[in-house]
Amino acid sequence: MGEVQTVNNMVDITIDGVEYKAKEGEYILNAARANDIFIPAICYLTRCSPTLACRICLVEADGKQVYACNSKVKEGMEVTIDTPTILEERRAIMEVYDVNHPLQCGVCDKSGECELQNYTLELGVDSQSYMIPDTKRETTNWSSVLHYDPGLCIVCERCTTVCKDMIGDAAITTAKRGGAELDKGYKDSMPKDAYSMWNKLQKSVIAPSNGTGETNCSDCGECIAVCPVGALVSRDFVYSSNAWDLKRVPAVAAHSSDGSQIYYEVKPTSIEDRTEKIFRITNEWAYVSLDGSARFAYDFQNTTASKDEVAFQNAIEAFKKAETVRFNAMITNEEAMMLQTLKEKMGVRLYNPEVRAFQKFLNHYEAASGNSLWTTDTDRIMKESDFVISIGAALRNDSPAMKYAFNNVQKLNKGAGLYFHPVGDTLIPTFGKTVEVFNHGVGLEEAALYLVLDLFADKEKLPSDVKDYIASFQKSDTKTITEKVEKTVKEMVLNEETGEEEEISKKVKENVEKEITVSINGLVDLLGGNAATFEDTFAKMMKKKESFSMMLGEDLYYHKKAENIAKLVALVEATCDINVVMTPPKSNALGVALICDLDDAQSGYTVGYNENGDFKLSALGTGDLDMPAMNQQEGTLTSIGKRVLPTNAAVEYEGYELNDLMQALVGAPELTIDWTSMLPSDKGFKALAFDSLTNSFSNDGVDHRGYKLERNDAETELPEVEKFDESAVLEGEIAYRCNPARQFNDFTDKSHEIFETFALYASTEKAASLGEKVEVVFDNGSITLDVVADAKITGDIVKVPDYRAAEGVYDLFDGSRYKTVTLRKV
Ligand code: SF4
Ligand code: SF4
Ligand code: FES
Repeated sequence: MGEVQTVNNMVDITIDGVEYKAKEGEYILNAARANDIFIPAICYLTRCSPTLACRICLVEADGKQVYACNSKVKEGMEVTIDTPTILEERRAIMEVYDVNHPLQCGVCDKSGECELQNYTLELGVDSQSYMIPDTKRETTNWSSVLHYDPGLCIVCERCTTVCKDMIGDAAITTAKRGGAELDKGYKDSMPKDAYSMWNKLQKSVIAPSNGTGETNCSDCGECIAVCPVGALVSRDFVYSSNAWDLKRVPAVAAHSSDGSQIYYEVKPTSIEDRTEKIFRITNEWAYVSLDGSARFAYDFQNTTASKDEVAFQNAIEAFKKAETVRFNAMITNEEAMMLQTLKEKMGVRLYNPEVRAFQKFLNHYEAASGNSLWTTDTDRIMKESDFVISIGAALRNDSPAMKYAFNNVQKLNKGAGLYFHPVGDTLIPTFGKTVEVFNHGVGLEEAALYLVLDLFADKEKLPSDVKDYIASFQKSDTKTITEKVEKTVKEMVLNEETGEEEEISKKVKENVEKEITVSINGLVDLLGGNAATFEDTFAKMMKKKESFSMMLGEDLYYHKKAENIAKLVALVEATCDINVVMTPPKSNALGVALICDLDDAQSGYTVGYNENGDFKLSALGTGDLDMPAMNQQEGTLTSIGKRVLPTNAAVEYEGYELNDLMQALVGAPELTIDWTSMLPSDKGFKALAFDSLTNSFSNDGVDHRGYKLERNDAETELPEVEKFDESAVLEGEIAYRCNPARQFNDFTDKSHEIFETFALYASTEKAASLGEKVEVVFDNGSITLDVVADAKITGDIVKVPDYRAAEGVYDLFDGSRYKTVTLRKV
């Protein structure tokens, strides 16, 4: 299947008498923004549902007053942004927002970038018509990163909306404030919308939804990003800097493969120390949502580096005798190109097992489908899809972008979802009413793909052996049901007139048990679903669904039957109307997979780059030669969206770079970014210079960062797929190689606002049975870990993190994500 193309019907509208084109079905506000026209709006968040909390977006459309954020454009619609009544409403709304707002702009964290300040000025509010006694509201910390000041909160509900509609945690909600009642006279004397908004505002604050005062959420900080005022701020940032003192460095979030747009915000550390320091991360929150690692894992730079000539010469010698270079996905495309050049010129092996598994999977997929890359991306799923399937990923941990897309489809597109994973996660079913979760046995991922074929394939297109195989799982069963039947009974009653007993007939309802034959989908049963009800459930899920997507995760790349799985994916694409996206495991895995000719094993003397080795290059400052960390480098990263994205250096670096070693070893251009235009065009890269790459979104939310990889799309025969082996399901005590959300690597671990620990994570029940510490014994070694209870995990499988390279967890799992282990209490 080729790349999906979006075709939107356009309609003609006028705004303030000027003609514009707008996407059919688009909200007036978004249509105006796409045409670079400003309509005041506070509460609305693009990509989330309108809440009508602020009412400031009032406009007139075809003679009627409507809210621009929840009214859709129609062919020929005439929109007027300002009328005298609307201007009066907007002014009153802003006056109300300013009632009792604390006079602390001079020290407020938001000052200078505050929407309350901006709109107060924009709408010329220079006097106050309203008043009400204030209520004392205490500041609180909701989590290790969230600081809330209800005194500053304007209850716009952006934070609660983004948390529910985008992030999927729904961890915060509006709560009762206990404020004074509005003077009854205002109801008649002030503009209607301003009154309604004020009435609600006066009664509400924001609070954790679980009633505990603590959010117990993903700590992504997206609520902080969208807060228009200083009410929600990161605990670390409170009173640390004026917004206008910070310089924004556009970059790409380094840790996951989401490729999220970020700004490192920097300024000198102090009056005495003029070294630039990163104070916080911000993002273009209207177009992109960050996970906790992208927002809070920013201070991982290598601060110890200097030009150590001896270490540099030792590195040259180490490379000369190296048989292998071992590295991970935390490098730029340019560095990957350098390592590939070393392989070509010096014959070293390139060992990167996590990317190698992914690379092989991609190769199998290309051979089977003719596509060099997957056919959709997370952004497109959110915009278009109304049915998502996730297989082989612990969404909450592996890929925040996939989790957000899965949730967003349910919330915004009235979608449905199928989630297949062996580890239970209490959050996933809360994303929507039509989400079906299959916590299947470890190893049954092929069965999940066969079920997808069964449910969605055009059976005429399927090879007959596959069709027969799928049909062989259809069984019939007998089921006892209770039915109400009407029965006629006779009874004797006394006739009051005659005084004699008479027989009368009466209809009564009675429950009777009955055996019926039902068809059972054996695949649903095998995967842990409710086979008896699934047919009905699925029929409901499919109602009015038009756009189907499938998200594939890391478990599949490390599966023993990865090749067959890749073929099944190709078969799904060829026979079902489903587009596919794959999660590259960590950071720049896709770039490395495309650029480097990776080896299956390491041998001999090894140079480790941020990995173990006989000689170690380290951006963590813990090796034999220092390297710059990702926030100290210019270069490009390749994302899950198949984009090549430019990232910039936020803080200074004093030491040597990989390009310096390249110059000494095999010859290289002057700068690292001189490699950007040399990235391999046969793999979809373009011969574009780093400085020519753009780094922005347009007002309609279209991503113009960097460029999109070219995909090869060749015609192929349908792949021949194998059956799966039901008996290959892993039994016993199972460990799953999986990091806590927000932890991806040694660099997130180094960052001071990431608190998740290197421990074994288990469901509350499992953790209680294990005690405080366990030794996890594998075939080839063991590791001792503290036990952490995660209330969102269900079932018995335990999660073992691999984010610290030195702990060697990756090797313990021996190229797999699941292992049978022995858990010994310590
Ligand atoms: S905390 Fe901020 S985003 Fe949330 S309701 Fe208050 S003002 Fe709006
Ligand atoms: S940090 Fe993220 S998950 Fe937690 S409340 Fe804010 S938006 Fe929701
Ligand atoms: S932006 Fe439309 S009601 Fe707030």
